[in-house]
Amino acid sequence: MSLVKSKKRVADHGEVFTPAWMVEAMLDLVKEETERIDSRFLEPACGSGNFIVRILQRKLAAVEVKYGKSDFERRHYALLALMCIYGIELLTDNIAECRSNVLEVFTEYLNLDDKNELYQAASYVLSQNLVHGDALTMRTKDGQPITFAEWGYLGKGKYQRRDFRFDALTGSSAFSAEDSLFAHLGKHEIFLPLKTYPSMTVRELAATAQVGGPMEAS
Ligand SMILES: C[S@@+](CC[C@H](N)C(=O)[O-])C[C@H]1O[C@@H](n2cnc3c(N)ncnc32)[C@H](O)[C@@H]1O
Repeated sequence: MSLVKSKKRVADHGEVFTPAWMVEAMLDLVKEETERIDSRFLEPACGSGNFIVRILQRKLAAVEVKYGKSDFERRHYALLALMCIYGIELLTDNIAECRSNVLEVFTEYLNLDDKNELYQAASYVLSQNLVHGDALTMRTKDGQPITFAEWGYLGKGKYQRRDFRFDALTGSSAFSAEDSLFAHLGKHEIFLPLKTYPSMTVRELAATAQVGGPMEAS
């Protein structure tokens, strides 16, 4: 793949893609985290997904080693791996390419077609986790504050979801400084989720994708 789409895009958006060898070397700096299924990664200028795709591949290799013998666990932990990857990208074509590149890695690993519930659930998760927006203003392309879903796997095919505002999450380091007024508070007391959802199965996530909106939240 070419590292540059056009001189104008380089000048306007700093769009120069990272070569594969450098992605590999950079991810090796945090190798153990890239090989942990539930470690969370955010790429705030994700382009077409050079880092995100590779992180997912590493996580899926870990899924295969740990859960390769059980189809149920393999599929559910693969979706958890996907759920732990986040991105923000300004340009319409790049975010679309990024979602499609990541989905391709996931569907090839599990050999899914687009009628499959897991394909639809993954597609929905990517529509939530890979945000079309501006990482500097922390707003979506529609001008709304960026929110991120924190996903967790509860076992037995069920996932939980809580949504947080990106601007609140990025403030967390300031709150945890020793001399901060809030140092005595636990992070859970400061960073309350915007929404907490009922636990969801793959089927329910896929159905959410069909109706085009998130399930009712508390
Ligand atoms: C240097 S490229 C890197 C892309 C990818 N991370 C890679 O290494 O291949 C920077 C990307 O950030 C995007 N970008 C520029 N400003 C941004 C912003 N404020 N918020 C989100 N994305 C932005 C550009 O459109 C471009 O795709």
